[in-house]
Amino acid sequence: MSRTLFVTTALPYANAPFHIGHMMEYIQADIWVRYQRLNGAEVHFVGADDAHGAPIMIAAEKAGLTPQEFVAGIASGRQAYLDGFGISFDNWHSTDSPENTELAQSIYLALDEAGLIDVREVEQFFDPVKAMFLPDRYIKGQCPRCGAADQYGDSCEVCGSVYAPTDLVNPYSALSGAVPELRSSEHFFFRLSDPRCVAFLEEWTQDGKLQPEVANKVREWFVRDEAGNPGLSDWDISRDAPYFGIEIPGVPGKYFYVWLDAPIGYLASLANLFAKRGEDVDAFLARPDVEQIHFIGKDIVYFHTLFWPAMLKFSGRKVPDNVFVHGFITVSEEKMSKSRGTGISPLRYLELGLNPDWLRYYIAAKLNSHVEDVDFTPDDFVTRVNSDLVGKYVNIAARLSGFLAKRFDGRLSTDLGEDGRELLAHLHSRVSVVGELYEEREFGKALREVMALADRVNEYVERHKPWNLAKAEGAELELHQTCSTGIEAFRVLTVLLAPVLPKVADQVAEFLQVPDFTWADATRPLGEHSIGRYAHLMQRIDPDVLAELFVPSPGGEPDPEPAAPEPPVEPGGEPVAEQITIDDFAKVDLRVARIVSAEAVEGARKLLRLVVDLGEGHTRQVFSGIAGSHDPADLVGRLTVVVANLAPRTMRFGISEGMILAAAHADEAANPGIFLLEADAGAAPGLRVH
Ligand code: MSP
Ligand code: ZN
Repeated sequence: MSRTLFVTTALPYANAPFHIGHMMEYIQADIWVRYQRLNGAEVHFVGADDAHGAPIMIAAEKAGLTPQEFVAGIASGRQAYLDGFGISFDNWHSTDSPENTELAQSIYLALDEAGLIDVREVEQFFDPVKAMFLPDRYIKGQCPRCGAADQYGDSCEVCGSVYAPTDLVNPYSALSGAVPELRSSEHFFFRLSDPRCVAFLEEWTQDGKLQPEVANKVREWFVRDEAGNPGLSDWDISRDAPYFGIEIPGVPGKYFYVWLDAPIGYLASLANLFAKRGEDVDAFLARPDVEQIHFIGKDIVYFHTLFWPAMLKFSGRKVPDNVFVHGFITVSEEKMSKSRGTGISPLRYLELGLNPDWLRYYIAAKLNSHVEDVDFTPDDFVTRVNSDLVGKYVNIAARLSGFLAKRFDGRLSTDLGEDGRELLAHLHSRVSVVGELYEEREFGKALREVMALADRVNEYVERHKPWNLAKAEGAELELHQTCSTGIEAFRVLTVLLAPVLPKVADQVAEFLQVPDFTWADATRPLGEHSIGRYAHLMQRIDPDVLAELFVPSPGGEPDPEPAAPEPPVEPGGEPVAEQITIDDFAKVDLRVARIVSAEAVEGARKLLRLVVDLGEGHTRQVFSGIAGSHDPADLVGRLTVVVANLAPRTMRFGISEGMILAAAHADEAANPGIFLLEADAGAAPGLRVH
């Protein structure tokens, strides 16, 4: 019986563009979804922006925009990433939507009806400098459970526990640095500690559906700690105005805390999709056979395995069938940092012309069903993709298709010979194994299995040496069998790789002149068939182009991390760099330069091409990532500072012979603005800056 699935990925905060961590989550979910679809499942795969909350409200204010304008700006950038990496969402929506407002309010009212909402007077932190109640994320201090320093007010990134900001040890305001004061206000609570919730969640989290390490972690949260604090505590779901969120019905001035309406956004996006199609979403969700699956990262397990299932259950709704948790991706073992030049921008990856299927393959090859972190290592990326995808897989078609076209008019032989039949039989016998591995999200194992099959196919080709057969007398039949077997095997491998390599699979279907693949095609021989002309499928990665991805450019790329405010101890959002000597500084030759001309660069939204005069008797070309902040016309004639002895860098658009100095906050997405340095009027181009 074919399955019907409702699949989601976590809703990203609408305060910054996607980073590689988001893409990893989408790629993982998309591979699983594509596998299910190939197998005939009906999948409704949706995402949305998580638009609400204080950080977005504050970031919007800083940018001089309304929160709605601010999140609309972020939302308008989403599709380029999703299309670029072949993420097959059926819908992308927002938690700041009529659907979500209606759902959140009705879920809340149902929970209230069930006796699970409490109203309590709460002592809450108030920032005396900023004159507002401080959102959780803007209070930092020591974790009350494990003692880790500098943790946010809502949850600990070290031990994963979730608590109230007032539980923090030695709290301070991240907005002003002030020690916050306690003030009283009325708050609404979801009574997670109610015995009905506890009993339901013990069953829901411990019945074997969750990954074992996730179930274990969750079990710890049920246990009373040594200080006697209850395991599951009630959850504060309200915030006082000013707040960007959904109003609590009947209580003016009180809003739902963003984490209450965020997961409801999954349902809102589905409802929006069904409305567009003119279908009934309630009827769909009432079906017992519909499976609801959420893909999330390890940092948001508490919200998805406790609050979310309980909210659904006690508002009389369908509860999730599973939550699939993944680890974090790092780049060269470095946690993505706010400082420029680390992490990699998914959009820059595409702009450089790097193939999205390479990244999908690499990430898939590193993923398993456990909550393990994965690392993107450039050398490893190049080696893995070049040797597996190009060397083992694409190579099969590249080597054989020419003979078929030239000698047999593209017609495949139905007689594959004994060796060919055996090879295909072996491939067919492994199809269900690979399918199982996809089903279990053991993508690394699935791909190793497929590559082992590709090895066999290449051994077969080596054994028969079609390049010799083509020259030999009377070897016509064996040549035809060899090439037909190889191409048929290549087709089977393509089906097995199709969840991971959607773009390549489409190209192969066109080349083989077959309809879009289904999983069943892997074991169903083509029979009487002619194929089309081979068109180049995939190149090797050029390490020089890849290296471009790691070149930092001032203001050139958006910050890879969602904006979270830092305490003022980090000026401009980043700590002052390691100490250097005057000799170190002298190595950097800074010169006054006059901007002679400036123009936009086609194909690079953020870049300007500048021609600058350093008093050398000739001009230089410099690319600078300041297009978002500067109108080219305003720059001409200005005096600025250039790093004159920086090694020239070849970019896609030409050579950059220096670097303009400009200032930007480390977390530029939340603190927009790039500020060009300027020399006093009268300074001559070429003067050295000491
Ligand atoms: N808005 C919340 C989720 C609400 S779900 C109802 C949020 N947003 S987020 O933008 O911070 O993260 C979105 C997803 O990306 C989460 O699943 C998170 O775990 C994942 N990742 C963020 N950084 C990551 C890596 N470095 N690696 C892999 N995934 C990571 O949390
Ligand atoms: Zn902790």
